[in-house]
Amino acid sequence: MLSKTMNEISLHILDIVANSIVADAQHIAVHVQELSKTDRFIVSIRDDGRGIDPKILPAVADPFVSTKPTRRAGLGLSLLENACTSTGGKIEVQSDFRGTVVTAIFRHSHIDRLPLGDLASTIMALVASNPGLAITYRHEVNSDLFEFDVNQLSEWFPDLGYEALFTPVVLQWLRRYLEESIELLRRRAHAQTPSR
Ligand SMILES: Nc1ncnc2c1ncn2[C@@H]1O[C@H](COP(=O)(O)OP(=O)(O)OP(=O)(O)O)[C@@H](O)[C@H]1O
Ligand SMILES: [Mg+2]
Repeated sequence: MLSKTMNEISLHILDIVANSIVADAQHIAVHVQELSKTDRFIVSIRDDGRGIDPKILPAVADPFVSTKPTRRAGLGLSLLENACTSTGGKIEVQSDFRGTVVTAIFRHSHIDRLPLGDLASTIMALVASNPGLAITYRHEVNSDLFEFDVNQLSEWFPDLGYEALFTPVVLQWLRRYLEESIELLRRRAHAQTPSR
C-alpha cells in the first residue's frame, strides 16, 4: 500500500513539493523544525504557486479531493494528514492566489512519528529536477539552524555556467554538503542538550 511506502517524512516533503510544482510555483521554501523541548516536529512547505482552488480548499486533505485530470483521488495531503494525526498532530493548509503553505505538525516523541529520512537526497533531487526553481531550505534543531538557498550554488561555483550547476558532479557535492550540514546541526544540538 502507498501509505506503507511513505515511511519517511522526506518522502512526504517530495510529494507535497510536487503539488507546488504543478501549481507553477517559482519559489518553494522547505522548513523543518525539530523541537524536542516542546515535543513538536514541524515541517512546512511554502510556495508562490497559483493557490488551491477555493472550492476544494476546505476538504483538500480528503483522499477523494483532487484536481488531477487523470484520476479522482488525491492522496498526497491525506497521507500526510494521517501521518500527523497518528502522532496526535495535525496539518494546516493556508492558500490563496498568492500561494500555499502546508504545515505538518507531528508530536516529536511519539512512537509513530516517522523518521525524517534522507532529506539531503530529497533536496538535491528537487534542485536537480527543477533548474530555475528558487528553492530555499531551512532546518532547525531546537535553537540551532542551517539554511540553504539554491542561489548559493552560483556564488560558490562562480566559474561554472548556470547549466553546469545541475550536472552530477555539483549535485553529488551538494548532497554531501547537505548531509554533512544536517549531521553537524544534529551534533551541535545534541551537545547542547543536557543529558538526563
Ligand atoms: N501547493 C498547491 N498549490 C495549488 N494547489 C494545490 C497545492 N497542493 C494541493 N493542491 C490542490 O489540492 C489537490 C489535492 O492535493 P493532493 O496532493 O492531496 O492530491 P493530488 O496532488 O491531486 O494527487 P496525488 O498527491 O495523489 O498525486 C490537488 O489536486 C490540487 O488541486
Ligand atoms: Mg499531490
